[in-house]
Amino acid sequence: MKLICANWKMNKTTKDTREYINKFLPLVEGVKDREIVLFPPFTSLCVAKELLENTNVKLGAQNCHYEDKGAFTGEVSLDMLVDLDVSYVIVGHSERRWIFGESDELINRKVVACLKKGVRPILCVGERLEEREANLTFKVVETQIRLALSGVEEYVDQIDIAYEPVWAIGSGNPATPEDAQVVHRFIKDLIHSIAPKSEGKFRVLYGGSVNPENASEFMKMPDIDGLLVGTASLNPDSFAKIVKSF
Ligand code: G3H
Repeated sequence: MKLICANWKMNKTTKDTREYINKFLPLVEGVKDREIVLFPPFTSLCVAKELLENTNVKLGAQNCHYEDKGAFTGEVSLDMLVDLDVSYVIVGHSERRWIFGESDELINRKVVACLKKGVRPILCVGERLEEREANLTFKVVETQIRLALSGVEEYVDQIDIAYEPVWAIGSGNPATPEDAQVVHRFIKDLIHSIAPKSEGKFRVLYGGSVNPENASEFMKMPDIDGLLVGTASLNPDSFAKIVKSF
């Protein structure tokens, strides 16, 4: 099933969350042929859990720690997230990699921890502008995927991947659907080569300046299985339009 995700990043108080969800749910009522997931900040997960119970919208978290518990000030464990009905976690978002210095090794630990706890990681990969200009897109994406999946390749069907070219994020300058398609095909071929037993149940999402006007063009591409939306997901009307655009 196609997967459409709203990554709110560091936006929305509990009050905003309540208002958003109360407005959003009627807009997507009855939509059952695609998976819809909201990723609020940690502070809004509890409110979101209550409002999303028994609806067609699932809950995700934007980050996690790989340990179960302990002296890790400011971190949130997967057990805590599972307790709030979180079924997806974004791992390795470029903002985590480039602003907070997350390494491929740390990202791998988080992927492994998610799999152990039965939470589906959405592994984000993508090249920066200078890497694109140096024709390094495929190399960067391949390295990020190989390292993130190291040791858990055989479980790739329990993971989704988001291709998010860093230069397209929040810039209003998306990749063309055709260019994204080429990278998505590359990712699928790569995964089939490193996990030959995969049944192809993983999905490859596109993220980077998706909006209600361009969403359907991405979703027409044969290897784009969903969208990871930032800015345009902050407005319930816009996000509902994206969900229903294809
Ligand atoms: O996680 C979402 C992506 O970073 C895309 O953000 O839609 O604001 O470009 P954006």
